[in-house]
Amino acid sequence: MKIVTLIGARPQIIKAAALSRAIRNRFSDEITEVIIHTGQHYDANMSQVFIDELGIPGPDVNLNIGSGSHGRQTAGMITGIEEILLKEKPDYLVLYGDTNSTLAGAIAASKIHVPIAHIEAGLRSFNKSMPEEINRIMADHVSTLLFSPTATGLQNLVNEGFDPDNRPPYTADHPGIFHCGDVMYDNSLFFRKTAEEKSRVLKDLNLENFPFFLATVHRDNNTDRPERLHAVFAAFSEIAGESNKPVVVPLHPRTAKLMKKNLDMEFYRKLRQNKNLLFIPPVSFLDMIMLESRCEMVFTDSGGVQKEAFFFKKPSIILRSETEWKEIVDEGCGRVVNADKEKILQAFDYFSGKGKALQFPSLFGDGKAAEFIAGVMLENAKR
Ligand code: UD1
Ligand code: UDP
Repeated sequence: MKIVTLIGARPQIIKAAALSRAIRNRFSDEITEVIIHTGQHYDANMSQVFIDELGIPGPDVNLNIGSGSHGRQTAGMITGIEEILLKEKPDYLVLYGDTNSTLAGAIAASKIHVPIAHIEAGLRSFNKSMPEEINRIMADHVSTLLFSPTATGLQNLVNEGFDPDNRPPYTADHPGIFHCGDVMYDNSLFFRKTAEEKSRVLKDLNLENFPFFLATVHRDNNTDRPERLHAVFAAFSEIAGESNKPVVVPLHPRTAKLMKKNLDMEFYRKLRQNKNLLFIPPVSFLDMIMLESRCEMVFTDSGGVQKEAFFFKKPSIILRSETEWKEIVDEGCGRVVNADKEKILQAFDYFSGKGKALQFPSLFGDGKAAEFIAGVMLENAKR
């Protein structure tokens, strides 16, 4: 069987590592993988660092599309992906998540009848003002194999008309849906020990023996709206000041750019001078999981970081108006607070008192989601 895997944005490169590893370890005689990088993310610390660190082969092709408006970026990708699919004629195009790269792959492959395997299918925010919600709905509805990390994701697919009783042969009109666990959980388990051995981030930040918090912000809804961006950073500033514990903020390039543009200059200057707000460039995955596993609490609007906080048994304060990962909130381990300073501070107080009382049950599989996915693709590939 031949698959083409499409990556483009940071989290997709990280997720792809799990499937490439499963293929290498279990299916190297049976599955050939060709990797296309759309070039959606291109800074070394948003792309190459993960390819080097996580043992992903390739990529075989980089389309170098780069940044742009939704239409321009997606259109450029579609053209490049189509050419490669026509040449490679794979059994499946493997798509991850919900970025513009995912949507481009879905459009390119479905029109020329290349079956799609969508990993992270079924996630929904029920908020179509998010570009990701549009991308994931469109990708799901042209896929042949849909792999959902959670029971909620599977149920969302059933609610949209996908039939859980479908049996092979699967097609885009008769798709197979599977609840298989989360490839990000596979990665967190697999790389944790390596991170402990190799990561220097705590030493470099002088945090080896000190408590700290971790924060990431990158959603367009937060970065592009000055009042929301201000509220989030005002809350971080207050928390760092009152607790006298540092908040480590690895800054996504989008956020770094838009903080300068969208924040009041004096406020921005004060943030940058605050010794307890540790703004750092995006970190490698090994560094990130060290920060997640050693911090006291996570503030984030990222999907992946919310989940990793849960994997490492840390409460997360979710800087959005809803989440696709509702299990985390249902278990009492995360709170959705939007970009509302008072709610952020209240959630911080709430979790500060909770300490070790929280329970983090196993909700994201057994660390073998990628093996399961590879096995299902292999069983169902046309011979
Ligand atoms: C994208 C995804 C989002 C995902 C996120 C992961 C879409 C619509 N959004 O958002 O779902 O959560 O990736 O990180 O696909 N930039 C750089 N260097 C880079 C990459 C980006 O400077 O290597 C800057 C550019 O100014 C660019 C901006 O970041 O315009 C946004 O990048 P883009 O890929 O369009 O969206 P993200 O916000 O990264
Ligand atoms: N991540 C990383 N370095 C960072 C920030 C995030 O390695 O500086 C990892 C994080 O551990 C997770 C993934 O990137 O695996 C999440 O990606 P991101 O927050 O960009 O996007 P989302 O998950 O929201 O789509």
